Parts: sequence; C-alpha cells; structure tokens
Amino acid sequence: MKSTIRNIELAPQGQSKIDWVKPRMQVLNKIRKEFEERLPFAGKKVVICLHLEAKTAYLAEVIKAGGAEVTVVASNPLSTQDDVVAALVQQGIVAHAWYNATEAEYKQHMQLALDTEPDFIIDDGGDLVSTIHTTRPELLKKVKGGAEETTTGVLRLNSMAKDGALKFPMIAVNDAQCKYLFDNRYGTGQSVWDGIMRTTNLVVAGKTAVIAGYGWCGKGVAMRAKGLGARVIICEINAIKANEALMDGFEVMPMIEAAKYGDFFITVTGNTDVINKEHFIFMKSGAILCNAGHFDVEVNVAQLKEIALSERVARKNITEFTLPGNRMLYVLAEGRLVNLAAGDGHPAEVMDMTFALQALSLEYVALNYGQLSPRVYEVNTDIDEKVAFLKLKSLGLGIDKLTKKQEEYLESWSSEEV
Ligand code: ADE
Repeated sequence: MKSTIRNIELAPQGQSKIDWVKPRMQVLNKIRKEFEERLPFAGKKVVICLHLEAKTAYLAEVIKAGGAEVTVVASNPLSTQDDVVAALVQQGIVAHAWYNATEAEYKQHMQLALDTEPDFIIDDGGDLVSTIHTTRPELLKKVKGGAEETTTGVLRLNSMAKDGALKFPMIAVNDAQCKYLFDNRYGTGQSVWDGIMRTTNLVVAGKTAVIAGYGWCGKGVAMRAKGLGARVIICEINAIKANEALMDGFEVMPMIEAAKYGDFFITVTGNTDVINKEHFIFMKSGAILCNAGHFDVEVNVAQLKEIALSERVARKNITEFTLPGNRMLYVLAEGRLVNLAAGDGHPAEVMDMTFALQALSLEYVALNYGQLSPRVYEVNTDIDEKVAFLKLKSLGLGIDKLTKKQEEYLESWSSEEV
C-alpha cells in the first residue's frame, strides 16, 4: 500500500536520528536478533499507533524483522517527526502520518492504516482500539489482539472491558514494572524538563514548579524539578498520594492556592480541566503552562482564549496570551504532551525497556491469541523479568543469587524452622 507522508526526501535526516538511538537500545537489539530467528509475526499484519519519532521507528523495524508487514500511524498529531516517518517508508514500512495533522487528517490516517486489516496492533492512548470498535466493527474478527503503551490507554481499555465492549485481548504494557518504574518516572521526569527547557531556554533554579498529579509520571517530574533547584508544589486529588508527596519533601496544596505561586505549571493527571479560568486569573504574569498527560484537555486552553485580550506566537511552540492588566501567560505546544510535541520524547535507554516489553508482549499475543479472551491482560512476569535481566546484561551488570539456604529461610514459616 502507498504511504501518506509529507516528504520522502527527508529520509536521510530521519535515518540519522534512528541510527543515533539504535546502539542505545541494546535490549531491543537482542530481541531483534531473536525475532529474526523465530519470525513470530510471519505472514501477519501489524498496525503500530505510537508517537512517531526515532525510538518508535526502531520498534517498527524490530517488529518487521519478526516477519510482520508493518504499518505505522500517529498517536498524536504534534509528535510526528516527518523525517523519521520518511526514513521508515524508505525501509519498506507503510506510514500514514504527518506533523500537525488536522483532526480530520489524523482520523483519515488511522482509517488508511486500518484498511490493511491488521492481525495485531500496538496502541498508545487507546485511539486505535477505540476507532476499530466504533468505526470498523468488521475488523473485530480479524484483529487478534495487541498491546497498549500508556496509563490513559489502559484506563480506557479497562472501561471498555468493564462495559463488555472490548472485543479482543490487549496487554497493558504500561502496568509492567519495567515500564512504569522507568519510563513513567525517569523517562517523563527527564523528557518533560528537556521539552520545557529547550522550548523556553529559561532557568528553573529558584523558580516554583506546580505539578498536578503525583502518579509515577508526576513523581518523576517533581524529582527532576527538585534536582534543577525549583521549589516544588504538588496538587493531588488522592490523599494517600498527597501524603507521599509531602514525605518526599514537596509542598502540597490545591490548585486554587498554588495558582498564585507557580512559574511553571505542569499537568500530569490524565484527567480533564485541571487548570481553568478560575486558576488563570490568579497566575503571575510570565507563568508557563504545559501538559504531560496523554490528551490536550488538562490545561483548559479554550477558556484561556476566552479571557485573553490577544494571543500570538512568542517563539516556536510557545503561545503568549495577554490578559487584562497586561499579564502574560504562556502555553507550550498548545497544551499537548510537552515532551513529545516540543521535544523528542523519552531518552533512548528508557524506551529500550518499554519497547522491549511491547515487542515481547506482541509476540506473546501472536503465540497465544487462541487461548486469550477479550479482556485486558497484565504483561507476563517472565517477560518483565527478561527485560530487566537483559537491560542489566547490556550494561555489563550482574546481581546476586539466593543460596539454597536463603531460599529455604524465605520459605520457612514455623518458629522452629526460623
Ligand atoms: N517515544 C515514543 N513513544 C513515547 C511515549 N509514549 N512517551 C515518551 N516518548 C515516547
């Protein structure tokens, strides 16, 4: 099938981005070699709906090395890198995506990808699964299953499963330990600040960072804010997480109070309407607002537009809103994922683990779909442990092993035995 992309001539530039990440993704390199021998997807079609940047491109190559006919499509219109997509097409992978696609184009690209009638899918955020179920019911028999990348997607899948709406099995890659402990925490922690800093070129030390949401991603963003020298305020709706934030050394308060202190506001909740008109009116002039949750619904940009006297592009990926009293508020990347829409996503070494989980989970589905029911599955523990083990091995690191006596000690329970 013909690809739908911006410009194939960008391929050499995209290929050099892919070449940079490959040697830094050693676990995936190992899996690629295994796939070349095992060919788990021989004769099968796979549609990958992820953020189309260099690390994703390498995952697509690995799935292709496993024998699949691969089609890629974007999971966010602002995270697509046209040069990387061009490089993929040059390698024989079909792509339907371009940077800054309109809503209609984004949907059309997804439909084109689904025209291939995939056997397996990889999704990020749940749009592909939702599109199949709502607009292409004829594919529900053909799609044998897939894997989901992110917290938001897993939440959506769980809602579908609860309503009995999910019609094929999906593996919740996000919930594997080798995913959320590293990707959500250290990946988001670093890439969000990378996106903010490269876009604004402003100092973080001595400033106040207000972070909404103290899940694994929020924890990472807060930890790195502290490391950069910021005063950190956490806004939470969960009392346990709020206590955790407090004991981790951060201030805790509701957004309505934090609004007046923040120099940087970062939403990482996965929910909608986290920062609204009632907060904008208290913010300091110069405050920077951005989002690191999957959808662009956390900072209410529509309400900011309503109360603003004017808006203009202040710098690439920065919109300046002028409010009454000559107060300026700045929104990064239109309120879309700042680390991907204004950056390159998580570091390669972190995505190595995430995408190794994706590759092995998809292989698991390919081998076992006959025995799986249409529900959300956890990543197999063996796969999680394999990825952790391969990561350490690739770093030249070993760990201790329990002796027989230690194993027996851990298993004993009677007072005589202990
Ligand atoms: N690169 C590709 N997919 C990504 C994701 N979900 N988060 C961060 N970086 C990525």
